[in-house]
Amino acid sequence: MTMLEKTTTGGPGGGEDDAVLTVDDLRITFSRGGKLIHAVNGLSYTLRRGRMLAIIGESGSGKSVSVRALMGLLPPSAYITGSARLHDIELIGRSDKAMREIRGRDVAMVFQDPARSLNPTMSVGAQITEALRMQSEISRKAAAERAVELLKLVRLPAAERRFHEYPHQLSGGMRQRVMIAIALAGNPKVLIADEATTALDVTTQAQIMELLVDLQERLGTAVILISHDLGLAASYADDVLVMYAGRAVEHAATSTLFRNVRMPYTKALLGAIPQLTTVPHSQLTVIGGQPPDLSALPTGCPFRPRCPKATEKCEEAPPLDEHEPGHWYACWHPVSRDDPALTGGAIDETAPEVAGPPANADTEDASAAADEHEEVVR
Ligand SMILES: Nc1ncnc2c1ncn2[C@@H]1O[C@H](COP(=O)(O)OP(=O)(O)OP(=O)(O)O)[C@@H](O)[C@H]1O
Ligand code: SF4
Ligand SMILES: [Mg+2]
Repeated sequence: MTMLEKTTTGGPGGGEDDAVLTVDDLRITFSRGGKLIHAVNGLSYTLRRGRMLAIIGESGSGKSVSVRALMGLLPPSAYITGSARLHDIELIGRSDKAMREIRGRDVAMVFQDPARSLNPTMSVGAQITEALRMQSEISRKAAAERAVELLKLVRLPAAERRFHEYPHQLSGGMRQRVMIAIALAGNPKVLIADEATTALDVTTQAQIMELLVDLQERLGTAVILISHDLGLAASYADDVLVMYAGRAVEHAATSTLFRNVRMPYTKALLGAIPQLTTVPHSQLTVIGGQPPDLSALPTGCPFRPRCPKATEKCEEAPPLDEHEPGHWYACWHPVSRDDPALTGGAIDETAPEVAGPPANADTEDASAAADEHEEVVR
């Protein structure tokens, strides 16, 4: 296949040999109050060994539901089709029992709220030891030793002492480190962090992100980072996938995407790009217009009702194609560098057509931002 031929499960950063997780045409529908809610609508991507993929998108775009499906954590009301292969193992359609064998050992997840995920009546050491003994047949003593090793790996200060402490005795950042240690107990190939640092202060957030990057590099774990924080995605992720209405609309290496945004929705979301270097924690911009009703999606491009570039052509759904090497996007009229209608901020249907700095300044700032982030982080 040539570089620019259509691919549905593409993703930047290496050959097929590196693929750890291949998600192909994943669709998830809930039945609620007599309506069908189409939460995920043909999501496809490849996650590669040792890489961090940030999934970003507005609230309700299907980020959490799509990763919970990989873990077998959706309620029975979810109807799931498509495929998600972890190496050769198909994750979709497995029984609960079969999924329990995968969960923790092959794919593990860290959630936003460690206080609720940890058992308040057990010491953190006992909780990690239990997780280890669920994953493999080892003695209690060996598991306890490994638990202390894991606490050191996640850089918990005074690991031996903390082993005996209870969750309420630890700070929020320490509890999140314990959750990561539990997630690592099974030596997973994929670690999913869903808003895992959102509840933490900015300094602790950065420390946890650096820990994830360190683990990714040392253990070769592939990481999926779900976050509303563009600064985190720009600073730490290797690749970024933008979701809208349950599908991927743009996907590229982080530096490529931030230098050369092509999809109007991404452009609107990243209205704050020029400030990324000065404001390392930038939330996604609020976009004008209504988010899509997932029970009544429009035909064609789902962003059409909010997109100032929409034409009749957009009544036909644009495929997610690799239009430029390593850069996938789904749009009939991609944003160009000198496109005056979409520079410098959110798309707001009530706002004047040209908002913010001129096109070139925006693009150059974005490139500089991406470069600086690369230098700092890599
Ligand atoms: N159990 C459920 N039953 C019905 N609908 C659901 C269920 N879980 C999620 N949904 C719907 O699926 C859609 C996607 O939800 P999801 O939690 O994946 O969004 P998200 O992108 O993670 O948003 P956020 O950024 O707010 O976390 C939402 O419209 C949500 O209401
Ligand atoms: S396909 Fe059309 S409606 Fe969709 S983002 Fe591109 S220009 Fe806008
Ligand atoms: Mg979510």
